[in-house]
Amino acid sequence: MSGTMATSIKKIQRVFPRGRRLHVLRSVAEMRAYQRTFPCWGRTPEVGFVPTMGALHSGHISLMKDALAKHSEVAASIFVNPTQFSAGEDLDKYPRTLDKDLSMLAAAGVSCVFVPQTRDMYPQQDPLCHVEPAAFGSIYEGQARPDFFRGVATVVTKLFNIVQPTTAFFGQKDVAQCVLIQRMVRDLNMPVEIHICETLRDADGLAMSSRNTYLTPVERESANILYQALMAAKHTCETSNSSIPKERVVQAAEAVLKKNPLVTKIEYISVSSQSTMQELEHVDASTGAVLSSAIRLGSVRLIDNVLVGSARNMLSK
Ligand code: PAJ
Repeated sequence: MSGTMATSIKKIQRVFPRGRRLHVLRSVAEMRAYQRTFPCWGRTPEVGFVPTMGALHSGHISLMKDALAKHSEVAASIFVNPTQFSAGEDLDKYPRTLDKDLSMLAAAGVSCVFVPQTRDMYPQQDPLCHVEPAAFGSIYEGQARPDFFRGVATVVTKLFNIVQPTTAFFGQKDVAQCVLIQRMVRDLNMPVEIHICETLRDADGLAMSSRNTYLTPVERESANILYQALMAAKHTCETSNSSIPKERVVQAAEAVLKKNPLVTKIEYISVSSQSTMQELEHVDASTGAVLSSAIRLGSVRLIDNVLVGSARNMLSK
């Protein structure tokens, strides 16, 4: 290491003293300066990364804990990414609870959190390049949210380029996002390992989500209906000895959802492959399937999924 490099690392270490304090890095330049305090950052199996949009809950913290169990340094990010929201979605009202988020990350033992501004993540108003996962435009969630997967693939690529983690942690809760990121790192030769962590649920089965705060108390009481419907569909698959047609699986979920008048819309019930998210015509336990659904409870959109048979292997041990 050159003398100038050693001096600048010492200077940076004075700004970011090591220890268990949470370092809040508010720009790309600060994030890069922090990395330089770890000469091996990104090149040893030491840096785990958990990207988030904030409004943290125990589901997010379970990802931090999985990351901390495997890595001595864990970086989180909090950035409400505008490009993954379509016109008319909830970008403006998405919950922002930064002070509480920082306390939760500090209590969990995370070493640093990257909290960039939009102008830093998207320096050009009219960027020439983005990451387009074209095949995801046709899956149900891609049809419902036309900008979502391109926005996620693009921002996660940017975050990987900036944070340079060795491993990144994602939640099964957003299963299509997990499949997309796994494919993206393979397709684009990104040197990042992807870990998928199980969905954390409230006691009644409702998957924890930052958007659950949109539910009224009455809606909240019925919100576990989505999980119940998916479990009914899973039960149909698992009690059959032979391959079972998709329609029967969908009907099992639909029957549960239709019993509750607060369910104002069933956007989709999907039976898909765990490696492509494309629809399957049949399910059998050996090939496995992802059962996923999006519904409206009142005006609140809920998504959830369960894994059948060998699809469970997508969860990291
Ligand atoms: P966000 O919705 O904040 O979620 C951040 C991570 O937490 C995702 O990997 C998500 O799947 C996971 N997560 C959410 N609820 C969970 C639960 N109940 N149990 C376990 N994990 C859960 O997903 C995003 O942000 C964004 O799309 C992002 C990847 C940050 C890109 O902008």
